Amino acid sequence: MRITASQIKEMKKQGEKIAMVTAYDYSMAKLVDEAGMPIILVGDSLGMVVLGYESTIPVTMDEMIHHTKAVVRGTKHALIIGDMPFMTYHISIEDALRNAARFIQEGGAQAVKLEGGETVAEKVSRIVAAGIPVQGHIGLTPQSIHQLGGYKVQGKTAEVAARLLNDAKALENAGAFSIVLECVPTPLAKLITERVSVPTIGIGAGKHCDGQVQVINDLLGMYTDFVPKHAKQYAKLSESISISVSDYISEVRSGKFPTSKQSYEMDEAVLAQIEAQQ
Ligand code: KIV
Repeated sequence: MRITASQIKEMKKQGEKIAMVTAYDYSMAKLVDEAGMPIILVGDSLGMVVLGYESTIPVTMDEMIHHTKAVVRGTKHALIIGDMPFMTYHISIEDALRNAARFIQEGGAQAVKLEGGETVAEKVSRIVAAGIPVQGHIGLTPQSIHQLGGYKVQGKTAEVAARLLNDAKALENAGAFSIVLECVPTPLAKLITERVSVPTIGIGAGKHCDGQVQVINDLLGMYTDFVPKHAKQYAKLSESISISVSDYISEVRSGKFPTSKQSYEMDEAVLAQIEAQQ
């Protein structure tokens, strides 16, 4: 049985901290799910860490659906959230509903996430009314990077802090089951967490959030283009991968790989028969 959005809401009531990570493919999702992760986000960070784009903006619905399907196939227990890409929920409510439905119907996800607060609240409420759980995302919203002027901490001024608090309440009222707070000062994230009844999931938002989310490639030390301050590397897989791949190249060159252990034998009589043929 998969964890549900209602169970995630209940975890806040019970004072149980919530862990969440991203995943983008079958093998990684399977490992993460088997380790007991309650929520997996198929994030549009896919664009940067998997597809090599400079930002999340070029990511399309088709790319997201392709990877969501793979993550769903690899998992049994986690709640899978599909991240709605840039401009797939901005133009109209119909667009937002149609694209949210694609994540559920085609992708097999159980919920969607979208960026924004008060400005997207009506869309959140219509998607929720259609039976699709929605996770909000405020603070540093990477799809608005050109508007925000860079990947900066949000909410340091009274004006922006008040707007973020208002955005969190608007998302709660619209029926969001949880809210991601990205790059928000710790005291403001604490205040927002205390003022809303739904779980806050922080990334660079300090320890008082109800849960934490990390990009899996950051957590495992696999994405080296840029390491954000809020990322903790629990492993340095990029180093292990480089060493392993160099070792493989040397062994192929020197003839050390493969050995009989990685090879297949055949019946000598059959071989002799084939050799005798002209
Ligand atoms: O796309 C993503 O990975 C995200 C997380 C950082 C929350 O939105």
